[in-house]
Amino acid sequence: MATANWTADNIPSQKGKIILITGANSGLGLEASIVLSGKGAHVVMAARNPEKGERALAEVRRRHPDAEVDLMRLDLADFDSIRRFSEEFHGRYPQLHVLIENAGVMNPPKRELTKQNFEIQFGTNHLGHFMLTGLLLDILKKTPHSRIAVQSSGVHKIKSLKPDIHFDDLNWEKSFKSMQAYSQSKLANLLFAYELDRRLKASNADIIVTAAHPGWTKTNLQNTSGFFVSKIMNNLMAQRVAMGTLPILRAATEEGLAGSEYFGPTGIGELRGYPELVKSSGKSHDKELAGKLWEVSEKLTGMTYNFDGPR
Ligand SMILES: NC(=O)c1ccc[n+]([C@@H]2O[C@H](COP(=O)([O-])OP(=O)(O)OC[C@H]3O[C@@H](n4cnc5c(N)ncnc54)[C@H](OP(=O)(O)O)[C@@H]3O)[C@@H](O)[C@H]2O)c1
Repeated sequence: MATANWTADNIPSQKGKIILITGANSGLGLEASIVLSGKGAHVVMAARNPEKGERALAEVRRRHPDAEVDLMRLDLADFDSIRRFSEEFHGRYPQLHVLIENAGVMNPPKRELTKQNFEIQFGTNHLGHFMLTGLLLDILKKTPHSRIAVQSSGVHKIKSLKPDIHFDDLNWEKSFKSMQAYSQSKLANLLFAYELDRRLKASNADIIVTAAHPGWTKTNLQNTSGFFVSKIMNNLMAQRVAMGTLPILRAATEEGLAGSEYFGPTGIGELRGYPELVKSSGKSHDKELAGKLWEVSEKLTGMTYNFDGPR
């Protein structure tokens, strides 16, 4: 599995595959859309803002004039938007080979809420994707060898942020600590990815779930973190977006994976470098915690997963 200096050149042809990418209008999601379109995939770019989405779509078409690429509207901070998106997706696409769960929001200066009143980072990064996946599971089941690739973050294991799932205050009503809330959401991404992979295996489904993190990559994500981080540190420390996108591209396309692999950069502190398998925290593998998060997520989203039925 270890491939020295893995790059987009290692990605085999993706012709014949339908690949859905959330947060596709910016940063890592846009770069993944460009690369995978260039590899021949039919890419469905999901974006919450139509104007930004159109600009990103034009950029993909500029880079790959023959690209088979569509744009769809999806706001992961609104359950109604996710339901509408799922209905439209079902009407348009018979299959879904790869679902890349990439959209994310980080470190808002003030506590913000989703449409259904969940803290914005937990609500968007975790609950939104939890619901989306459940709604698209039937199409993934109908598609041979399908895959879900989840974008997490190294922040899920930064000890000073006390990463945990705060069941007593999931929405940070008692005391809001923005980066801790982000860390919770990114730990939730991994707990969800591994738990979903276990449940799919138990149900004998032909779907695997993988995960990745991009190290520190210069994108719009840091724009809410103040001048020092977004302008100075981003220019000094962060890697380029093409490099930061490699872990999720590897998680989404590498052949011969079994499921539950986690890719990230292998440089110092996993902040930069070529993607390889890396270790996520012990907590991310805690099955009891994952089971509890699953139950709560079903309750909060009203989304009950259906693992029965045709493979
Ligand atoms: N960059 C890094 O160093 C880094 C490190 C660790 C993890 N990550 C993860 O990588 C992923 C991609 O982030 P990025 O770095 O590429 O940042 P980015 O450039 O800010 O892209 C984030 C994307 O998510 C979208 N998004 C945010 N809220 C959404 C919502 N409610 N519904 C639908 N889409 C929404 C954004 O849309 P708008 O443009 O409309 O806001 C944007 O397209 C995130 O999950 C992030 O947590 C990034």
